[in-house]
Order: sequence, then C-alpha cells, then structure tokens
Amino acid sequence: MKLLEKIKIGDLELKNRMAMAPMTRSRADQNGVVKDITTLYYVQRASAGLIISEGVNISAQAQGSPFTPGLYTADQVVAWKKVTDAVHAAGGVIFAQLWHTGRVGHSIDKNGQLPVSASAVAITGQQHYTSQGPKDYETPRALTTDEVKQVVADYKTAAINAKEAGFDGIELHGAFGYLPNQFLVDGVNQRTDEYGGSIENRSRFVLEVMQSFVDVWGADRVGIKLSPSIPYNGMIDSNPEALFSYLIGKLNEMPLAYLQLMQPMFPLDGLPHYPKDVLTTFGSLFDKTIMVNGGYDRNTGEAEIESGRADMVSYGAAFLANPDLPKRFEVNAVLNTPDRATMYGGGEKGYTDYPALG
Ligand SMILES: Cc1cc2nc3c(=O)[nH]c(=O)nc-3n(C[C@H](O)[C@H](O)[C@H](O)COP(=O)(O)O)c2cc1C
Repeated sequence: MKLLEKIKIGDLELKNRMAMAPMTRSRADQNGVVKDITTLYYVQRASAGLIISEGVNISAQAQGSPFTPGLYTADQVVAWKKVTDAVHAAGGVIFAQLWHTGRVGHSIDKNGQLPVSASAVAITGQQHYTSQGPKDYETPRALTTDEVKQVVADYKTAAINAKEAGFDGIELHGAFGYLPNQFLVDGVNQRTDEYGGSIENRSRFVLEVMQSFVDVWGADRVGIKLSPSIPYNGMIDSNPEALFSYLIGKLNEMPLAYLQLMQPMFPLDGLPHYPKDVLTTFGSLFDKTIMVNGGYDRNTGEAEIESGRADMVSYGAAFLANPDLPKRFEVNAVLNTPDRATMYGGGEKGYTDYPALG
C-alpha cells in the first residue's frame, strides 16, 4: 500500500504516509498542563508516520475552551516534554499544533475577558460550549495593531517553547475558523490597518506568524493546516479561491515542510463559489508535501496517494478510535467506532481504552 510507504518531509524520514490529525481532547488540568494519561494516549498512536498534537494554546488569551493544554508556562513545557520523550522512545514523530482561538471562546472561561479577533464581529447561528453549558457567542474585541504584533510574538514564544518541549516540529492551526482564519476572511476581517482590506493585507498575519515559525525552526520543521472551503464558525469570504490561492502561493515560497488541506466537510448550501475539492483547486500551487484531510478511509486515502494528488493523508476520528490504525490498514482489519460522547473531556474512557489488534 502506498499509504504505508516511507516519505521524507523536510529532513525527517517518516515511516508511513499516515498522519494522526490534530484533535482536541480537553483532558489537561485547569492550568493547561497535560497529564500522564496524555503520554499514554500519544504513545499508543506512535505508529503514525506523523502525530500532530491536539491544538495547543499559545497564551492565556488564546484559550477558547476549558481543559485544553498550553505551551506558555514552564509547567506546561515540562509536561509536554514527558509526552515527546515517550513518543520518541516508541519510535514516533510528533509536531505541536499551535492554536489561538480568537473569537471562538467565551468570557465565562476567560476570567471575564472578552475574546479577541481581527474585528468586532460575532459568530451567529451557533453556540459555544462553556463550563456553564452552551452560550451565545459574544461580540469579540478587535485587536489593536500593536496587539496584533504582540500575538505574532506570542506565537513565536510558543514555537520556541515547543522546541524546548521536545517536539519534532510545529504546525499552525490556520483552519476551522480560529484566529488566523478570522484574519483571512473578509466576512470577519474589517480592519483598515495593514492587516485588513486587500487579500495581501488579510494574509499578512498568517504569513508573519509562519515566518516567525521558520525563523525558530527552519522551513523543514514547519507546517500549516488550512480549510479554504469550511464555512463553520462563520468563515464567510467573498472569494476563497483567490484568497487561498494567494496565501498558498506565498507559503510555497517560504517553503514549508507540508501543507495540510482539509476538504469541505460541511454543506456548502448558498456558497456556490466555495471550491468543492481543495486538491483540484489548490493542489498545484504547492510543491512540497501535501497532506489531505477530511473524511478519508483506507481506500479513498490510498487512492489520493496513488493518483499523486496528495503525498500524505491525515486521519482524525479513525486514529482517535484505532491506536494501531496503520496496522489495521495493512491487514485490512475492521475498525473500532469512535464514541462521540467521550471525545472532549473526561478520563481514560474513550481516550486510552480503545483496543489495539490482539
Ligand atoms: C475530537 C476532535 C477534535 C478535533 N480537534 C482539532 C484540533 O484541535 N485542531 C484541528 O486542526 N482539528 C481538529 N479536529 C479536526 C480533525 O483534525 C480533522 O480535520 C477532522 O476530524 C476530519 O478528519 P477525519 O474525517 O479523518 O476525522 C478535531 C476533530 C475531532 C474529531
């Protein structure tokens, strides 16, 4: 199987082309420190060619939901080092996904502070899961130009911390409606400074963050996840094809280790201008490793590699429920079914107790 063949990304040799997609599991402590059980969870999945960690908050301001981990205090860094050491001992490779949720949060879980964003535009038609139950989104506070530069600096500090914590590289969470995505789309970004207006200006935040990552890690150890066709979390843009073509073209010049592209997984009713297949629309714009994501199984993932449209496939829910997913693909075994009820929060149930093949 092509999925099980080795691949080189940057200077890293990966044992197969299957990545574990980043998945928030909300099992850190109140201070954003991961517990020993998280070490076991990732070690169980070390047969992935590449593990991409759950989203990791770059600062207290970045946090959108309780019990999500961080990389901005000494205790957080020490706890992650235990995870990465154990993953390496098990033969795994692990990148940290660096995360700022922007307006996808609530003051209830932010010490009373309003969430921040590119502009003061709230998410409508959805609620946020807070520690006090589902709540309507608040109108976020727009970051000042100086504060935007401070957030870029916070990303860089977290990138340095990720190195200290022993990760093999880092990925920017540029997808799914979080802060970088909020800067990109003109449905949210109404700024009039150098971070708003034209496509070039709206892309500036993401490109500055990525440049800071490359400055810390070198291009071989930096990736990004984008979801050009996912309107969830209010990601509405007048011309996503032009926006993401420009951005991906610029990212290609950096260059990076990989681009993780998420397929549209939500209905695109009323959005006929959103690309239906991100590989068809954007694939040719990026020369390095393309990792595709979103709804793939053994056969459809293999077909993408076989056709040459993608170099790697990342699996989310399937890896969550099947710690030995590459082995299961190899022998074409039946897969465990992911349990939605235990995806976010809790202890070992639905986390470290999914069985591997005997
Ligand atoms: C429980 C859960 C948590 C997730 N958390 C994140 C996250 O922290 N960062 C991210 O980029 N995507 C996150 N995702 C999305 C996955 O990375 C992936 O894009 C999505 O599940 C589609 O891939 P799949 O069809 O193989 O599951 C999450 C998905 C699940 C199921």
